[in-house]
Amino acid sequence: MKFFIDTANLDEIRQAHALGILDGVTTNPSLMAKEGIKGRDNILKHYKAICDIVEGHVSAEVVSTDFKGIVEEGELLASIDEKIVVKVPMIKDGVKAIRHFYKNGIKTNCTLVFSAGQALLAAKAGATYVSPFIGRIDDVGGDGLDLIEQIVNIYNNYGFETQVLAASIRHVPHLIQCAEIGVDVATCPLSVILGLLKHPLTDVGLERFLADARKTME
Ligand code: E4P
Repeated sequence: MKFFIDTANLDEIRQAHALGILDGVTTNPSLMAKEGIKGRDNILKHYKAICDIVEGHVSAEVVSTDFKGIVEEGELLASIDEKIVVKVPMIKDGVKAIRHFYKNGIKTNCTLVFSAGQALLAAKAGATYVSPFIGRIDDVGGDGLDLIEQIVNIYNNYGFETQVLAASIRHVPHLIQCAEIGVDVATCPLSVILGLLKHPLTDVGLERFLADARKTME
């Protein structure tokens, strides 16, 4: 299972990278805006700065919604660094563009996926990754993890190469259940990655071991 961090914050990316367990990064326009990045050149420079930190794939999202615009923007993003994966929304022209990128050797991440049908289309089009949004489905009363399970089953039935990238992960139980289901990748905020470290018995146990160790040194 690969771990991606879901942020455009360079410090958070460095922290996760320093743990030695980071396989890639996902960003989206909201995460870029949160960092206060403005203007095309600054956006491209920021993606390059992310690519310089990590070894794996870095998803950079297009904001065009027509085929020609998505292709032009995607080609520009892909030219920044070979680690870039072009993130394309699940819309009609997005599916066409994913197919175009597939035929031209450009990796894609099909984003804003909320149904098994959308995931099937993304795989048929040749997306490298499909990003179902767990938390946002839960937010509207659905069960995001049910969708993840459905997509993993469908992809396994046909041996699709598209990797299931569980997105919109809000807490540790989401991440653990994704691991149980067998997703290829989970992208989550730094807080969720660090949350995996925590267990009260680890803290209590360490305190006791350190106290006993002090006794052996008296
Ligand atoms: C990642 O690719 C998605 O853009 C992200 O996980 C969405 O998360 P959110 O629903 O917390 O904004």
